[in-house]
Amino acid sequence: MNTTDTTVPAAPPHVLAPLPYAENALEPVISANTIGFHYGKHHKGYVDNLDKLIAGTEYADLSLEKIIAATAGRAEKAPIFNNAAQIWNHTFYWKSMRPKGGGEPPAALKQKIEASFGSVDACKKELASAAVSQFGSGWAWLVLDGDKLKVVKTANADTPLTTVLKPLLTIDVWEHAYYLDYQNRRADYVSAVLDKLINWEFALQNAS
Ligand SMILES: [Fe+2]
Repeated sequence: MNTTDTTVPAAPPHVLAPLPYAENALEPVISANTIGFHYGKHHKGYVDNLDKLIAGTEYADLSLEKIIAATAGRAEKAPIFNNAAQIWNHTFYWKSMRPKGGGEPPAALKQKIEASFGSVDACKKELASAAVSQFGSGWAWLVLDGDKLKVVKTANADTPLTTVLKPLLTIDVWEHAYYLDYQNRRADYVSAVLDKLINWEFALQNAS
């Protein structure tokens, strides 16, 4: 390949990962209407924007993870970082929920949760508190810090992926995630997600 040719993207553009379930599969907690806009417009918008921003640049050849790592913390690259990180965060968010989720975590995860938080309820409370207290747009995360589980929150497109923390699951608290169904009641959205949709199996896979 001629690396000096900047007129043709060197790699296929980034694509929108398939939603792991039907748009109405999370009802009644999250409506098909919300998912339709959130996945079909917002998430897709980040993919379309990134493909435009990186066409013909040094980033055109890189994986999403490499683009995120290469642009994190660089103000002049913020548009590329923001769109790339939002693509990754959203793909991770969809997998962090499942129809008929919530309930008891699998035993191996429950053990880790109890060792780090005392109980599953205490872990859920900490996640809810991070999600509700994030000022403005952002994300609440369950992460692995060494061998300990922790809850952290990030603003806007920021992601633990650029730190030593290993993301296990996330909750999107941008208004576009809940406003059509819950308006300003972010706490109700968060507690319904934790009780009825959260995908503990996905968190366990990521922790292993
Ligand atoms: Fe979102």
